[in-house]
Amino acid sequence: MKLGVLASGRGSNLGAILTAARAGTIPEVALVLSNVPSSGALERARAAGVPSAALEPSGFPSRPAYEEALLARLRSAGVELVCLAGYMKILGRPVLDAYAGRVLNIHPSLLPAFPGLHAQRQAIAAGVRVSGCTVHFVDAGTDTGPIIGQVAVPVLPGDTEESLSARILEQEHRLYPEAIAWVAQGRVRCETSAGAQVARALWRDAPQAGGALPSPGL
Ligand code: GRF
Repeated sequence: MKLGVLASGRGSNLGAILTAARAGTIPEVALVLSNVPSSGALERARAAGVPSAALEPSGFPSRPAYEEALLARLRSAGVELVCLAGYMKILGRPVLDAYAGRVLNIHPSLLPAFPGLHAQRQAIAAGVRVSGCTVHFVDAGTDTGPIIGQVAVPVLPGDTEESLSARILEQEHRLYPEAIAWVAQGRVRCETSAGAQVARALWRDAPQAGGALPSPGL
């Protein structure tokens, strides 16, 4: 199995994925794509010698044309599992249909709480005592797909968006490679029942399969 990673920003989760791929705990990363040519993610890919490309939506006549170009790149690189790692676009139908049940995302909250932008800011504003990160299968909604795994972290008195983000990010870097391994090994899969667009994460060998890593500091 080959992985493709889509990222828009600094690419620290991509870094964790590349480290795990080098260690052989997850499959190789065949391609990194970014909608932001100057992104740290592309720099990391180049430094690691992994094929990469910038595809800017503005360079295409329409959104579907952009999505078709993404899909063509993923396919020609032989990508079988797509990992969104700070990809700041909603993934469109062409890729979601072609990779049904084979697109993962990481989000910096315990979904279904605080989907969308600024999840850590939302958590602090809500006054929750616990937040964390979630890896889930991607569906057409925003951060709504079936949950694969989560790690909880405490929200401490005096936390700022920055301090909470840093505590969560550390756990993102543990969880994402682990969740990718579960999917790559077939321990978790997304089931879609014909036409109904309902998906579930299944634990073939539950309860040992995981689903949550030990949560530090709780
Ligand atoms: C992470 O917090 C991730 O959960 C969210 O976007 C951020 C990306 O950070 N989806 P990085 O680019 O991987 O460092």
